[in-house]
Amino acid sequence: MKIIMLGAPGAGKGTQAKKIAEKYGIPHISTGDIFRANIKNGTELGKKAKTYMDEGLLVPDELVVDLVVDRVQQEDCKNGYVLDGFPRTIPQADALDKALAKLGEKMDYAINVEVPDANIVNRMSGRRACVGCGATYHIVHAPTKEENICDTCGGELILRDDDKPETVLKRLRVYHEQTQPLIQYYTDKNILVEVDGTVDLEDVFKAIVRILGE
Ligand code: AP5
Ligand code: MG
Repeated sequence: MKIIMLGAPGAGKGTQAKKIAEKYGIPHISTGDIFRANIKNGTELGKKAKTYMDEGLLVPDELVVDLVVDRVQQEDCKNGYVLDGFPRTIPQADALDKALAKLGEKMDYAINVEVPDANIVNRMSGRRACVGCGATYHIVHAPTKEENICDTCGGELILRDDDKPETVLKRLRVYHEQTQPLIQYYTDKNILVEVDGTVDLEDVFKAIVRILGE
């Protein structure tokens, strides 16, 4: 099963992608997580990506396309995968399509997690990310067992730099301009499905499972 997660920043793509990956036994591929790992490790890619990410802008297509196209051809992807944060532009979607067509493959679902802009800024200001493993929580909706300590690795939790309200507003603008057109793109390819992302995160997941099957 090959799945794309679509939705605004903070819609819950990462939250749901992680649950899908666990339930269906497929890798969760988050381009945001890949960039953040590169930033942490001080790689050239990380240095380039950081300047865009801190501004709330998209990283240029050429820095992200090959990375994902290589990743989905690795052994652990043979039964499928869930893409989170990619594609984010029409050229990225076209590049993915072409690369898969060469392999005789195609995506099965593009799941659009719908959350109105008005909910997003609030949600992001409550999000906390682990400096160690990148796991994300929410101070109200998905709290850790111990305050400010990651349930998975015991790392410290922080507010992501790009989750400050002014940067979130810019990310939302970028989303509407460059990423939202993908909803029509995948509607035209007959693989778009929509779920309401404003309900409790377990209920969002139930709606996704109803679509993907038990
Ligand atoms: P990325 O990391 O992908 O950020 P994003 O799209 O802005 O999405 P987020 O991770 O912020 O939100 P999410 O939808 O995953 O929400 P989450 O599940 O955490 O990208 C970061 C940057 O990297 C980009 O700005 C760009 O610069 C660059 N980049 C990455 N990919 C790129 C690409 N392909 N091309 C170019 N540039 C790229 O949930 C949010 C919060 O809400 C959490 O606290 C969560 O606990 C909570 N929550 C989740 N669901 C619910 C619910 N149902 N009810 C209540 N709270 C909930
Ligand atoms: Mg995410």
